[in-house]
Formats: sequence, structure tokens, C-alpha cells
Amino acid sequence: MSPQQSSSQTLPIEATALRRVCAHFATGVTVITTGEPGNSEAATVNSFTSVSLDPPLVLFCLHRQSRLRPVIQESGGFVVNFLARSQEPLAWAFAGRESAVVENVAHHRSEHGLPILSEALAFLSCRLIEEYDGGDHTILLGEVVELGAPSQDEDPLIFYRGAMRVLEDELSGAPAA
Ligand SMILES: Cc1cc2nc3c(=O)[nH]c(=O)nc-3n(C[C@H](O)[C@H](O)[C@H](O)COP(=O)(O)O)c2cc1C
Repeated sequence: MSPQQSSSQTLPIEATALRRVCAHFATGVTVITTGEPGNSEAATVNSFTSVSLDPPLVLFCLHRQSRLRPVIQESGGFVVNFLARSQEPLAWAFAGRESAVVENVAHHRSEHGLPILSEALAFLSCRLIEEYDGGDHTILLGEVVELGAPSQDEDPLIFYRGAMRVLEDELSGAPAA
């Protein structure tokens, strides 16, 4: 394809196009949980990224009006729960303003009292280290203080082009040396 042909396929930089193009990036699905018993909140998030091994840092992006932000600030941390394929209903339940109630979902508490979804594939419990401006979102950086992968043999839940999906076959190629 010539450079001219490929440039004719570019889209205007506006929110709908950005959302549509970014939807081509397949991700896992997490639910971020936070708060003490009686004041717990959760939201479905796919902007999770691991950042550093030493020190152990991760981040996710949260829209500015999220009800989670003050609860994370007050409790000083959050838990990243990686969802299993069987947890699709939970992913949608925590994806709206009128979201499900953490107390009604199977969970236990981290050493710091934060909710961990008991049926998640794996979890990272984090201390909030820093918040950075990210336009209409805030980038929250956390230091991992507790972690586990109790259901690691289950398949993960995948989000791609606006739909929840499951993994198909593993590719057989070995990583390049
Ligand atoms: C698959 C998926 C991924 C999402 N990822 C994010 C995200 O990374 N950051 C975010 O702020 N909201 C994300 N959302 C939307 C939040 O789940 C939703 O705004 C939130 O639960 C609503 O409550 P809140 O507005 O009080 O935060 C995502 C929703 C879905 C379905």
C-alpha cells in the first residue's frame, strides 16, 4: 500500500473515532474495588497496566466524576481484581453508575481491609502512591502491597470492540530468541 493510500484512511481526531480505534486493542477486564466495610465501591476498568517490578507499581485511569475516587483517597488504596470468563455478569454489573453493591458479591478483605472479589482470577491490593492529571481521567498509581492468583487455571475475560469475549487457541509459535 502506498503512503497516499494509507493516509486516506485516517480519521478525524474526535472522541467517537478515538473510542472506536482504541476498541481494537484487546484487553483483560478488571474490577477495581475499594473502601472499608459499609463504604465499599467497585467499578469495571480495562485501563489497567503494570508499570514497574522494583518497586512494584501498577496504574489505571479513572474518569474524573467517578464515585470511586473519594473512596480510594479516603481508604488510601484499591484492589485490582482480574476477572474470569464466568464473571461477565459482574463486569457489566459494575460498569454503570447504578452499579452492583460490593457487599452483595462474594468477597473477603485484604490485610488493609479492602474488598477482594473471591472468584477473581487474581488480585493486586495496592496503596495509592500518586494521582496524575490525564485529561478527563485521572491516572492512579499504586504500590502493590498484597497479591494472589487463587483461580489462575480459569480462562480470563477479554474485552474487544465493545464486547466481552473469551480466549481462543493459544498460538504455537515460540517467542523470538
Ligand atoms: C469493559 C469496560 C472497561 C471500562 N474501563 C474503564 C476505565 O478504564 N476507566 C473508567 O473510568 N471507566 C471505565 N469503564 C466505565 C466504568 O465501569 C463506569 O464508568 C463506572 O462503573 C460507573 O461508575 P462511576 O461513574 O461512579 O465510576 C469501563 C467499562 C467497561 C464496561
